[in-house]
Amino acid sequence: MKKIYLLLLLFLFGCNQSGFEEFQSGKEVYEARCSACHAPDFKGRVGPSIDSNSPSAKMPDTYWIQTITKGKGSMPAVRLNENEVELVIEYIKSSY
Ligand code: HEC
Repeated sequence: MKKIYLLLLLFLFGCNQSGFEEFQSGKEVYEARCSACHAPDFKGRVGPSIDSNSPSAKMPDTYWIQTITKGKGSMPAVRLNENEVELVIEYIKSSY
């Protein structure tokens, strides 16, 4: 019986490792999928600044959703589900 639990655990762990987990918070999404290009403080690196002083701060959520899910110029589309996209936008805008 114990073996089955162990296998189940391994299976769940395996899923996490290959990136099938859903992010639970906007901070997690941002750190995993955005901060490499936009920096942890939103001031930008490879990508432009998206902090409160940037042009994107004044853009509606629809612009953000479009940019994240479809990509824009040299920014590739980021694979996230609808909930994760909402969470990450909320997280960024809550810092403004
Ligand atoms: C591989 C690097 C990379 C990643 C990862 C990335 N971006 Fe970008 N992002 C860019 C680049 C480069 C641009 C500029 C695109 C252009 O206009 O040519 C950009 C543009 C943007 C813009 C528009 C800025 C403006 O002034 O119009 C927003 C908003 C944005 N990114 C948000 C995000 C969010 C949120 C994430 C995470 C879900 C993310 N990006 C992930 C590189 C990245």
